[in-house]
Amino acid sequence: MPEERQFPPRSNRRLGSPGPTRLDTVTTMQISTTASTSAVDDTRLSEILANPGFGTHFTDHMFTVEWTPDLGWHDARVTPYGPLTLDPATAVLHYAQETFEGMKAYRHGDGSIWMFRPEENAARMVRSSHRLALPVLEVPDFLAAVESLIRIDQRWVPDPEGEKSLYLRPFMFASEKFLGVRPSQHVTFMVIASPAGAYFKGGVKPITLWLTEEYTRAGRGGMGAAKTGGNYASSLVAQQEAIGQGCDQVVFLDAQEGRYVEELGGMNMYFVYADGSIVTPETGTILEGITRSAIIELAGKLGHDVTERRFSIDEWRDGVASGEIVEVFACGTAAVVTPVGSLKWDGGATPEVTEAGETTMRIRQALVDVQYGRAEDPFGWMHRVV
Ligand code: PLP
Ligand code: COI
Repeated sequence: MPEERQFPPRSNRRLGSPGPTRLDTVTTMQISTTASTSAVDDTRLSEILANPGFGTHFTDHMFTVEWTPDLGWHDARVTPYGPLTLDPATAVLHYAQETFEGMKAYRHGDGSIWMFRPEENAARMVRSSHRLALPVLEVPDFLAAVESLIRIDQRWVPDPEGEKSLYLRPFMFASEKFLGVRPSQHVTFMVIASPAGAYFKGGVKPITLWLTEEYTRAGRGGMGAAKTGGNYASSLVAQQEAIGQGCDQVVFLDAQEGRYVEELGGMNMYFVYADGSIVTPETGTILEGITRSAIIELAGKLGHDVTERRFSIDEWRDGVASGEIVEVFACGTAAVVTPVGSLKWDGGATPEVTEAGETTMRIRQALVDVQYGRAEDPFGWMHRVV
């Protein structure tokens, strides 16, 4: 039975410029649903949800919608989760024209299910798709897609204990079978979901960072602000180097001067000063993190003076050495708020910090309390799905 949702006139807009995104319209896309006949049984599901890890188990269904220039978005469907069959000439496999998002569904104490600022993920996908010459999936359509998957797979949203959640991965890719280098004339958008526990195995304890001085992530006019696979592909060798150095994540500096802190392989960064003020690197070549922007608001509400500005690696090293910088933390959907214990580079390291800082943990708690419905939502961030 197709779900009774109204979808908008099919968008065949390919962005010339990002333009306004429609945050308030209702979708009219018809989504057909084919329920899985081989859904995971309850016993296995409870085993998975007891210890979901990150990104290894997938729910019973997936969402798909396709785009062509003449039909716009069409054939929206929820189907049983399963492999794709792709022609070896499918464009994304060669030129990496793709974008993706990462967001979570949280179960509250009363059993209801909520998303955190989902329209921000939808709007960011519009911006990323603009950079990758992909078509626009309008915000209401993106939301309808994600919600349809959460609804059908709602038993996969873990109970809130242990800060578990259902991680959602919307993604869009060039699905035309063509080897010429031009924007694809066939595009596929999908959503898959995976129950998630802590991103770092050790739980909330300080992680160690490796400063790469050889590799950079993004340059001026590049695609550093877009959430696209290429950025992650280019980060892997540096991340591998970090692991080889006994660190958890890699820190990238700006490509031009090799002087300013950008972000980690999959997280944004924050620096807390002894006077309570907080600095986060400014955007432009980094991912405009939704957790990052929430923390700007939350930390402000907790009384911190928060500044977005260029932040040099020398300020970091000197600030920690002098005691001016008292805490460093990283943030992102997967990592939530994760304290940073120390920074290592070729020939040195900041002193090891073994305990999470007080401000870091206060901000972390304020954030997860909103996400899990344990605190008021003064910014209207939560969006109920079930
Ligand atoms: N930076 C990078 C490179 C990321 O992959 C992520 C995670 O999505 C972030 C920052 C944090 O973004 P968000 O808070 O929207 O998850
Ligand atoms: C996220 O936090 O959603 C990401 O995409 C980052 C990745 C490290 C899983």
